[in-house]
Amino acid sequence: MNRHWEEIQKKLESIKGKQLFRETKTYQGIDFCSNDYLGLATNPRMLEYYRSLTDLYPFGSTASRLVRGNYDSMDLFERKFASFVEGEAALLVSNGFVANFGLIDSIAAPDCYVFTDRLNHASILDGIRISGAKKKYYNHLDLEHLQTLLDKTNAEDPNQKQKRIVVTESLFSMDGDSPDFKKLLTLKKQYGFVLVVDEAHALGVYGEEGKGVLFRDLPKEDILLVDYRVYTLGKSFGLEGGIIVTKQLGRDHLVNVMRPFIFSTAPLPIISQLATFALDLLCSMDSERKNLQELASELKESLRSFGFSITNTASHIIPLLLSSEAEAMFYAKSLQEMGLDVRAIRPPTVPSPRLRISLNAKLSKKEIQRLVSALVQIRKDWDPVSANNIHL
Ligand SMILES: Cc1ncc(COP(=O)(O)O)c(C=O)c1O
Repeated sequence: MNRHWEEIQKKLESIKGKQLFRETKTYQGIDFCSNDYLGLATNPRMLEYYRSLTDLYPFGSTASRLVRGNYDSMDLFERKFASFVEGEAALLVSNGFVANFGLIDSIAAPDCYVFTDRLNHASILDGIRISGAKKKYYNHLDLEHLQTLLDKTNAEDPNQKQKRIVVTESLFSMDGDSPDFKKLLTLKKQYGFVLVVDEAHALGVYGEEGKGVLFRDLPKEDILLVDYRVYTLGKSFGLEGGIIVTKQLGRDHLVNVMRPFIFSTAPLPIISQLATFALDLLCSMDSERKNLQELASELKESLRSFGFSITNTASHIIPLLLSSEAEAMFYAKSLQEMGLDVRAIRPPTVPSPRLRISLNAKLSKKEIQRLVSALVQIRKDWDPVSANNIHL
């Protein structure tokens, strides 16, 4: 083996030694872990619509959107989505990762400051890194800390020669909590920063017609003050894709400078056709949204009453905190053996090991109770001494 492969082997051994080894695995138990919050990925009306389509060629878009990969269905979807979330313009890209990464790289530069919640998604952090901007972490949801950092920056750069950008998720994917948007907008008015909000996990679930947390928490005139809103089709839409909503000027700028948009093949044309249809379904799914919240309340109440430690979640994402990687893996493996698909999430994805239980509207109360009973049983079976080297 040459030096490169020896290094790789050592790295993997070290990952395994820390109980952090990961593998791709197909598993079909009851879904307590996907982001298909409304069940649209297997919605029968979506299937019927898909089967009714006759213009399926070409399968691939065959080029980037600036070459031959643009289709009318993409333009139509963008207009429809922008109007749904009451924004000026939308840009469809390959996925939510690209949306965050490419957007932040496009609007930030080494001569600007980007303030990021410490727990923001990797796509946001990587976008900041690649832009070369000065990264300022604020503690999770701690807007007072953000304000302190903004004040310090104003002291360093009193004439505001360098741009300030603040980025946050609206619903944190691994903790299930949200920032205080009213306070954040007050800070924006006071400090004049550019604001980017990632609604990946909130779209379809919160706000009127599932428009997201911003619509739940802010008056409409304030939503328009958010400079960039990022959405994904990979979660509640049950598809794949990313969307950036901004001013027309902002969209024109991204089309001209956003590298993963310019230098990559456009999404499959069928995605925008399916997404346009899915949007009509998603708006009308109030009963699914209500069911999801009822299931979430029931699960949180039960877990707390049985003494499990969960994050301060106010949503359908319910992280159950465990004390070690081995314990998280033992719980996940045991649940999977019982037909319940729950996944362990470990560092570096999150600061501390946990089960990320994410609910969807297709689940029943009976299945929630089954999950709770299983967790209670597994807690009795957990023996830290004999639990070495469990790999999922
Ligand atoms: C908060 C957040 N933003 C963006 C993304 C990326 O979206 P996508 O899965 O569409 O690439 C994710 C994915 O998990 C996410 O959790």
